[in-house]
Amino acid sequence: MGRIFPYIRPLDKSKPILYTCAVTLEKRFKDGSARIGVVGLGYVGLPLAVEFARAGYRVTGVEASPARAAQLKRGRSYIGDVADADVARLTKAGLFRVRPDGRELGRCDAVIICVQTPLRKSKEPDLSSVVAACEEVGRTLRRGQLIVLESTTYPGTTDEIVRPALEKSGLKAGKDFFLAFSPERVDPGNEKWNIVNTPKVIGGWNPASTRLAAALYSRIVRRVVPVSSAKAAELVKLLENTFRAVNIALVNEMAQICDKLGLDVWEVVGAAATKPFGFMPFWPGPGIGGHCIPKDPQLLTWKMKSLNFEPRFIGLATTINGAMPEYAAARVARALNGAGRSVRGSRILVLGVAYKPGVSDYRESPALDVMHLLAEDGAKVEYCDAFVPRAEVGGRVWRRKTLTDAAVKGADLVAILTAHPGVDYARVCRLARRVFDARNATAGLSGRVERL
Ligand SMILES: NC(=O)c1ccc[n+]([C@@H]2O[C@H](COP(=O)([O-])OP(=O)(O)OC[C@H]3O[C@@H](n4cnc5c(N)ncnc54)[C@H](O)[C@@H]3O)[C@@H](O)[C@H]2O)c1
Repeated sequence: MGRIFPYIRPLDKSKPILYTCAVTLEKRFKDGSARIGVVGLGYVGLPLAVEFARAGYRVTGVEASPARAAQLKRGRSYIGDVADADVARLTKAGLFRVRPDGRELGRCDAVIICVQTPLRKSKEPDLSSVVAACEEVGRTLRRGQLIVLESTTYPGTTDEIVRPALEKSGLKAGKDFFLAFSPERVDPGNEKWNIVNTPKVIGGWNPASTRLAAALYSRIVRRVVPVSSAKAAELVKLLENTFRAVNIALVNEMAQICDKLGLDVWEVVGAAATKPFGFMPFWPGPGIGGHCIPKDPQLLTWKMKSLNFEPRFIGLATTINGAMPEYAAARVARALNGAGRSVRGSRILVLGVAYKPGVSDYRESPALDVMHLLAEDGAKVEYCDAFVPRAEVGGRVWRRKTLTDAAVKGADLVAILTAHPGVDYARVCRLARRVFDARNATAGLSGRVERL
């Protein structure tokens, strides 16, 4: 294991004003009297805000989307991992409130920014929401506040984008206010790992900021992992998701190798995974999706290209993973062909369109790319997904069909693209004319099944 250096340092007494601010802030974090602001109440911000409120802090959430804000005010959560009852109870107790703008953020001791950081079509990072959020925070910024960015971004953002945007206020980082980056590691739908038991990496703009951010998060997280700088913390997040993207690409290529060799990739990876050291299983699929794995490595590529460095692993992984929907569509075509049918005119029922099992999020989901490709080739494509009632892609709206025996029997092929829990795959295999399974949901089941 790499060495974790003791980055929690004693506060510097040579700057008395800042020292006094830091001591006060640390005390308020520890005794629970601190007020916390969270800007952006999405998949990351809402669970975080709720966790701080649960710990007894008074939390002000700022949410720009009127629809989302209105839902929260009615005590309703739109994030699967946050219960309606929690939102309602914490709101009633006066521990959680939602505001449409940052006017009240000046009263907070710490403000955490959790807004979206998408890529533009050109694959450049779009940090406009981060800049807007910082400017909003900057309008009420006061001496002694701690500002933390949690949005995933390229190394250097906290110093090059966030700090200047906040300093438009006339206050200086490290002199008047504290600044840190702490990447969110939330895994929506994961019942084992959550905010509390997932270690939290923290990198401050200066040592006092690291110390204070660690003091803040250690009230809700069991273990904090301080690193040497905000930039290091930014890269930690990108390394984690690049690691996943590259390993998924490797196993996606392995699936194609197995197909050529007449082998079952699931058997091969499963057997390799019995090695107790030096191997970690990743599983193939019809591509990568969600808000993180397809995007995060591109943030690093963009940054490195600006430094005249081409990250080759990321490039190759992007190519392999990006071609998987086409490969999956080609395998569907092959399965139909084996039964003497063409894609054109076939009825294809897709099971699962969310980007992963157990969630309603279908952003960047490869299942939708596969559906689009098959529909382009003339198939009549429908989908069933208990979590996603409608999905909008490229201007086209798909509405879900209820998963019934008749729907399964009526399809020329059933394609399992996301293996949600709660689906009786044995029954699907029994009733379907043929099945293409891109997720090994039908492991051990018989029927006319072709697996990726
Ligand atoms: N979704 C995940 O699983 C996940 C995991 C780890 C990290 N991240 C990262 O965390 C960040 C947030 O992701 P998310 O999935 O929560 O995004 P999201 O789109 O669900 O939420 C962002 C929210 O911020 C709001 N917002 C934007 N600008 C605002 C402003 N100026 N003031 C107030 N509200 C504003 C938006 O209306 C939206 O509700 C991204 O950088 C993402 O890459 C996401």
